[in-house]
Amino acid sequence: MLSVCAAVASAADLKLKITKKYINFPVSHKVDRRAMTLSVRGQEPCRFVIRLADGEPDYWVFRDVSNLKGKTVTLSYEGSEAALAKVYQDDRIAGEDEIYNEKYRPQYHFTTRRGWINDPNGMVFYKGKYHLFYQHNPAEREWENMHWGHAVSTDLLHWEELPVALHPDTIGTIFSGSAVIDYGNTAGYNAKDEPAMVAFYTADHPKSQRQCMAYSLDEGLTFTKYEGNPIIDSYDKWQSHDTRDPKVFWYAPGGHWVLVLNERNGHSIYNSKNLKDWTFQSHITGFWECPELFEISVDGNANNKKWVMWGASGTYMVGTFDGKKFTPETTKLCNLNGSAYAAQVFNNISPEDGRVIKMAWGRISFDDMPFNGCMLLPQEQILKTVNGGLRLVSRPVKEVGQLFTEAYSGTDLTASQANEIMKRFGGNDVLRIRATFRLTYSTDAGISYRGQRLVNYDMNGNRLNGEFYATEAPGSMELDADIYVDRGMVEVYIDGGLYSYSMKRDVKSTNPEGYVFWGNQLELKNLAVYTVKSIWDNGK
Ligand code: FRU
Repeated sequence: MLSVCAAVASAADLKLKITKKYINFPVSHKVDRRAMTLSVRGQEPCRFVIRLADGEPDYWVFRDVSNLKGKTVTLSYEGSEAALAKVYQDDRIAGEDEIYNEKYRPQYHFTTRRGWINDPNGMVFYKGKYHLFYQHNPAEREWENMHWGHAVSTDLLHWEELPVALHPDTIGTIFSGSAVIDYGNTAGYNAKDEPAMVAFYTADHPKSQRQCMAYSLDEGLTFTKYEGNPIIDSYDKWQSHDTRDPKVFWYAPGGHWVLVLNERNGHSIYNSKNLKDWTFQSHITGFWECPELFEISVDGNANNKKWVMWGASGTYMVGTFDGKKFTPETTKLCNLNGSAYAAQVFNNISPEDGRVIKMAWGRISFDDMPFNGCMLLPQEQILKTVNGGLRLVSRPVKEVGQLFTEAYSGTDLTASQANEIMKRFGGNDVLRIRATFRLTYSTDAGISYRGQRLVNYDMNGNRLNGEFYATEAPGSMELDADIYVDRGMVEVYIDGGLYSYSMKRDVKSTNPEGYVFWGNQLELKNLAVYTVKSIWDNGK
């Protein structure tokens, strides 16, 4: 499992004097993982595991080596020499023309070009760009070798993937964490006109998980790891391997930094003045992995704010926070289901914008693809009073609207009228459908695509795709579903974002049916269908 840098005896070596942009590696899942060490004189060697194909590769992965031009890279591989001999450098990624055009590749959700992704990390807005780092295995489509991948966007829709930002080292592989812009130069790294982007991550090692820091003066392209790492080592205190995923933000009222860390059975709060020295303050039980804590207006009123804390599953509590301790005022609440995991909100959103914007990992596997996992649509968070209680509403950010062109819109349709219209779109697996279901006679109703139930509302059991959901208005016979179909995946937002879920699309279904509404005498109060423009520059 461990893939930290270390010297190892190798079966074969390949030396490459770097003249091109990428090194291309052939991958076969029929082959076991073997250790590869990449060494460059004067730099710490990097070790990872990879399944180099000695026969026909399933696909190719790559490493951007443009910053190593003129240097000699030695690749030492503990597996097949014949496979290592197929590794080559080029200015193009092997199979580059297919990227973003693959059969199940989502067309308006972020996915990586090659390899595996999970949690969003280091989400921060800086100089007009949203930075999205993420858990990434650049060496294959399954989880392993954790690095931080990096992508940027100016509009939360179109992403440009940049070289991997953080590589494993002797302290560990690079697990989840966050990033801030140190405008006050509290850590002392700032250059003239360039405040440091400071990243916090967990170094995962078989012995323990420890918190580390790295800073960048070039907008996250390259990071320098802090020589005093780790900054937090709490294994002894918790007697647990599970101490990870630091989320850091500036707490203006106290003039200090806050770090929220998942430790064993919940989230701990640490404080610091300089981003390097951290003091434990408090702990709240009941959360697991990937902590988040942020302030948000109640019903849009900037004079009435609360704090929201969540864990990786998305269950959350609303409460107060004094910089040292989060005090819940609600029990755990939940507004989502399905594939969403490990969500984070952007740090350093400009005050003129002021939105709380979340992104979550979609735990969706894209069969037979050279990439895996995706990010769900960026979502604005709104804290709303619903029937006297506070609820977090989550809905795609307004920018997403630019992608859609209305292809049909109507009101008051019977299900059979709606089905007639939907026949036009049956072959379209990149689509948005917004439907308000009116269950006049039926106790259950929904819509399917190729036989898969995208919406399956059982009003009798108050179950939506198997999970409890109650409408805001007691006794309501209506349900609004905003359905985003994107090749290998589907996201559904219910009743304006009061609830949402996401899932893998059944791409292998042999059911010939397109989009079909069902339900006894079901009516569609509203129906709108939109075609979608790809976010990728792939001619579609
Ligand atoms: C959540 C998680 C994190 C960890 C990361 C490792 O999905 O388990 O707790 O840092 O993934 O990839």
